Amino acid sequence: MSGRLLLIGGTGFLGSFVATRLASRELLVLVRPTSDRRVLPPHVEVRVGELSRPLPLEGVETLVYCASMGFGQVPALVQQLDSAGVRRAIFVSTTAIYTSLPAPSRAVRLQAEEAVQTSSLNWTIVRPTMIYGTRRDRNISRLLRFLHRWPVFPQCGNALWQPVHVEDVADAIVSLLGTPATYRRAYNLPGARPLRFADLVRTAARAVGRRVLLVPVPLAAATLGARLTRAVSEEQMRRLAEDKAFPFTEASADFGYSPRCFEEGARAEARLLGLAP
Ligand SMILES: NC(=O)c1ccc[n+]([C@@H]2O[C@H](COP(=O)([O-])OP(=O)(O)OC[C@H]3O[C@@H](n4cnc5c(N)ncnc54)[C@H](OP(=O)(O)O)[C@@H]3O)[C@@H](O)[C@H]2O)c1
Repeated sequence: MSGRLLLIGGTGFLGSFVATRLASRELLVLVRPTSDRRVLPPHVEVRVGELSRPLPLEGVETLVYCASMGFGQVPALVQQLDSAGVRRAIFVSTTAIYTSLPAPSRAVRLQAEEAVQTSSLNWTIVRPTMIYGTRRDRNISRLLRFLHRWPVFPQCGNALWQPVHVEDVADAIVSLLGTPATYRRAYNLPGARPLRFADLVRTAARAVGRRVLLVPVPLAAATLGARLTRAVSEEQMRRLAEDKAFPFTEASADFGYSPRCFEEGARAEARLLGLAP
């Protein structure tokens, strides 16, 4: 790969893992004035900017986009990339686009994907499932801490989940960067195998050396609880009951994607959080 590589979202949870892996290349990271630069590898070059304004794209040949595609800025960004002569671009979307629920962000994400797919870029779109790993995740780290402390957990439905470890997503992005077979293609990036919600919670409990009693909660009650407490959105609560299992045959064939299973990832995270038995 020649030319500069611009990473957008490099100070985010996933983006910081991508930044670490790309630090030895000609890397530039877009930061906002308010971004926490301490999460970036030392000595990495930054450009200050903001997605809602024209971006500093001089000398950039490749883009890795790890910010959300759900905020409406992607179509304008794609136009900027085309006019600036950027050739290669990786976009991180989400398997949430497959939801059958009327989620408000879905239409924006689909428009963003369409703008990318109809551009003249050598694009690749990746769609991770729920990403976990390290204390920076906003899901499994909380679950592990909770289960370490409490022996009871609410169970709302028993849908399929297939969370993916952040390092597997970051490794996938780096592998496909220089792989022409991935040009103009979109890939799901889930964990190794789907597991039922109850198995996911029990696996997480084992990782922190605990047993857990699952207490069934009807979806209607959980949705009402979400509305009253605002702890999670009603959309997130309804998504709980939806199966979230995805194949990744094409990713394996085209760039050797081989993610870890949840048991292994949860054990590693428990060790990292100091919660392992
Ligand atoms: N986390 C998950 O479970 C999950 C699951 C599936 C897909 N994804 C997708 O994976 C990607 C990364 O997720 P994440 O959890 O790592 O996100 P994150 O931690 O929220 O990070 C978002 C990044 O985008 C930057 N950003 C946000 N708005 C910006 C703007 N207007 N201009 C410039 N930069 C901006 C943030 O900068 P600051 O540091 O300045 O805030 C940060 O670096 C997203 O596309 C997300 O939809 C995430």
